[in-house]
Amino acid sequence: MKLHIINGPNLNLLGKREPETYGIQPFAEYYDTLKSRFPSIVLSYYQSNVEGELINKLHEVGFESDGIILNAGAYTHTSIAIHDAIAAITTPVVEVHISNVYAREEFRHVSLITSKCAGLITGFGMEGYAMALGYFVHQNTK
Ligand code: DQA
Repeated sequence: MKLHIINGPNLNLLGKREPETYGIQPFAEYYDTLKSRFPSIVLSYYQSNVEGELINKLHEVGFESDGIILNAGAYTHTSIAIHDAIAAITTPVVEVHISNVYAREEFRHVSLITSKCAGLITGFGMEGYAMALGYFVHQNTK
């Protein structure tokens, strides 16, 4: 099974960025543990701070990947274009947020992408990515 993790803006700074909200672990380190926990999955990782590049990546992998785990960062709350890209592709997308967006500022309570996603995982820290991987594994084996 081929799965893709796509992280949006400012998530390249995980480990350094607002550690009280996002923790102290760099994503690259967590990604290594994910790969060892799910050895049978062919996992790819992409991060961009640029909205159009995230859309290009969704188009590129969204017809051949078995699942996409997307943390669109702040674009979650603003991007009709990412909503449309998820609607356009055939690969199911799980929306992940490290923090609990519903326990934070009101502008984070609106997601423009959830309606096009298979589901939403929010507030479980980095472990949300593993939960999303677990969902795709389960879907594939049932
Ligand atoms: C985030 C939540 C967003 O509101 C925020 O803009 C981010 C990170 C999260 O993973 O908790 O950049 O997506």
